[in-house]
Amino acid sequence: MQLLDGKALSLQIKEELAIETTEFKNKTGKTPHLAAILVGTDGASQTYVASKVKDCEMVGFKSSLFRYDDTLSEKDLLDKIESLNADDDVDGILVQLPLPKHIAVDKVTQAIDPAKDVDGFHPANVGKLSMGLPTFISATPLGILLMLEKKGIETEGKHCVVMGRSNIVGYPMSILMARKGNPGNCTVTMVHSRTKNMKEITLQADILIVAIGKYEFVTKDMVKPGAVVIDVGITRVPDETAKRGYRLKGDVKFDEVSENCSFITPVPGGVGPMTRVGLLYNTLLAAKRN
Ligand code: GUN
Repeated sequence: MQLLDGKALSLQIKEELAIETTEFKNKTGKTPHLAAILVGTDGASQTYVASKVKDCEMVGFKSSLFRYDDTLSEKDLLDKIESLNADDDVDGILVQLPLPKHIAVDKVTQAIDPAKDVDGFHPANVGKLSMGLPTFISATPLGILLMLEKKGIETEGKHCVVMGRSNIVGYPMSILMARKGNPGNCTVTMVHSRTKNMKEITLQADILIVAIGKYEFVTKDMVKPGAVVIDVGITRVPDETAKRGYRLKGDVKFDEVSENCSFITPVPGGVGPMTRVGLLYNTLLAAKRN
């Protein structure tokens, strides 16, 4: 089994992005600028946004973080997005999810200018992705594609099983793995909470991408020996013996699944850092296009 070390790979890609950013700045006099909005005090979201801001610094981007209480009204959030859309200095806009229940996610997603939608969540960008047109690929699927590509994992003709059908990961991932290209050219099956013969299907996977949000759901008996296993899940599981009072667990039971597969991503340190790289990649792309 080979570990797919997303942390090490992301550092290497960030170094490459830093060089590309310097070249871009020298050529255009512009600095790529990401604006991030965080509503509320969810611990995981705070950590993710802080990491995204730190990443921007590392590669030479400018970043602006706007933090609001979870009492922020939907209208005020939409107004803020409107002003960032109109700000020529801002290349990319990100609203960290989840949002408080009184704010409609769809309205927020659709308020962001598609040209600044570095999360790739706007319907116009999802539509382009579905048709194989150039667009922003959402950060997690993009990070996974970069990992497969950089690690030289063959995908053509393989059976890829995607577990989960979220707009953020499962849906775009299944489209991307099936599309013409490398990585791509897979036969794709998507399974989800209503799938009846889950294990029968996952056992056929040459590449298994798991994004269901149920920690340690995938066990050894569900994975074909020699499969490539990509674990997108990250759940904080309470544990009094841990320093922070919780441990991070993936959707895959790592200890037993890793015995039989060819490649596997750890949690933490697998897909997470690659997602962050995906966002940086999109922000630089937005700056170049704008
Ligand atoms: N919450 C969990 N994943 C993501 C992501 O990729 N982007 C945003 N904006 N919020 C998230």
